[in-house]
Amino acid sequence: MTDLPAVSIHENDLTDLAAREGAIAVFATADGKLDQGARKVNSLTRKAVARAVESDAFEKAKEGEAVAVSYPLGLAATKVLVVKMGRRPSAEVARKAGASIAKARGTDGVLILGGSILRMADVAYGCALRGYTFTPHKTGDQDAAGAIDVMVTNVAEVQAATDVMMAVAEGVVFTRDLTNEPANVLTTTEFANRLVEMEAIGLTVEVLEEDELEKLGMGSLLCVGLGSASPSKVVVMQWNGGGDEAPFALVGKGVVFDTGGISLKPAGGMEDMTMDMGGAGVVSGVMKTLALRKAKANVVGLVGLVENMPSDRATRPGDVVTSMKGDTIEVINTDAEGRLVLADVLWYAQDRFKPTGVINLATLTGAIIIGLGHENAGVFSNDDQLCNRFLKAAGSEGEGAWRMPMGPAYDAKIKSRIADMKNVGGRDAGSITAAQFLQRFIKDDMPWIHLDIAGVASVKAETALAPAGATGWGVMALNRLIADTYEAE
Ligand code: BES
Ligand code: MN
Ligand code: ZN
Repeated sequence: MTDLPAVSIHENDLTDLAAREGAIAVFATADGKLDQGARKVNSLTRKAVARAVESDAFEKAKEGEAVAVSYPLGLAATKVLVVKMGRRPSAEVARKAGASIAKARGTDGVLILGGSILRMADVAYGCALRGYTFTPHKTGDQDAAGAIDVMVTNVAEVQAATDVMMAVAEGVVFTRDLTNEPANVLTTTEFANRLVEMEAIGLTVEVLEEDELEKLGMGSLLCVGLGSASPSKVVVMQWNGGGDEAPFALVGKGVVFDTGGISLKPAGGMEDMTMDMGGAGVVSGVMKTLALRKAKANVVGLVGLVENMPSDRATRPGDVVTSMKGDTIEVINTDAEGRLVLADVLWYAQDRFKPTGVINLATLTGAIIIGLGHENAGVFSNDDQLCNRFLKAAGSEGEGAWRMPMGPAYDAKIKSRIADMKNVGGRDAGSITAAQFLQRFIKDDMPWIHLDIAGVASVKAETALAPAGATGWGVMALNRLIADTYEAE
């Protein structure tokens, strides 16, 4: 498990700066005004900060970006990072400033001279998240990033905000670790074990094994894992921080590896299918965050953990399976397996918990990447109010999300000649017909969102708050949705 750097908030004290080792971050406005900490460092370095601020590089830097002064005269520090940021930054700029500091500091510890500038918790949060690296499979000494120390005039306020944000960061990092992990390590059993460990932070965690899933009638979910040596599982995580009210349900696709099954995928890029449990990863990360920050809400997280492999026992194209709901499904393409998993977990979640609403997350279709690229997840919903609340939460956390249409004409494309439905609807509107398939397992009047995160769960290029690889997309938005909807006084 990747550890986040320690973050400490301190009383503003500029007396011993000359002896401080590691990196020091200071702030200056776009029009060249040095903040209090920056002025102090400037005088200790015979005006190195002022020269940095007068440079072309600072002129060209955007808000939240930094210019580095290496081995500055007069300081023990290895570098001074001069961040372009005003005194009242947006959350986005403050987090970006933290990300700039993370990239420039390397593994050096960093002292951030925040003074009375606003949103310093966001700066620390951005620094902690952007500094993430996934190193468990690198041999040799891996230097962990040093501590993040922040000096401010209003310690109590910044400390309280930091505590909440670091609980979110812990959830994001948990999601990233799960999503980055290769499939020989993160088997269905290992995934379930890592979730059971969260009982230590107050979650109730149950693992439903194959015999129980059979008794429940989950023929749709179970048909996906038939070709794999790893047993299929459903894990149920409950956080009851609210009153007696029914919970909100989060459901995740947890295909630990997707070969396509008998409808085998081509070799090129197949290794990326280690991230096909990304939806389950996000659900797990949100549950971790809710427990760590002791959210005043009732939320249940359910994940379907399976591996999609070809073998003599694997499901064949043309097979017909019966879902827990009772509807039969003709499996035309064994590579459209995520919806088969979600069908049963969605039904079970509603049947057992009678939730007030359901959001599912899944790396469901390549088609959503064709449509939206890696900038936005596809959002499908039967409920405008819940959907708009989610879009607002995602927007305020900087997580791209774009609503897609649904309707009966799309649903008609998954009619089957021999069963109640088939699991694919043809090439056109592939993401939408997948959503229609899921909606057949959503009860009437149940507020529901399906998030197709195939394009955003893991990416090849760095993003604002993450290096290349797993992003943890969705943990922040869902945490905010729950906070704003169920915990607002
Ligand atoms: N896991 C894939 C979708 C995917 C593709 C996720 C690329 C991340 C990146 C899913 O199980 C799948 O194979 N979908 C098929 C559906 C098709 C057979 C109808 C697809 O998108 O090609
Ligand atoms: Mn597939
Ligand atoms: Zn898949």
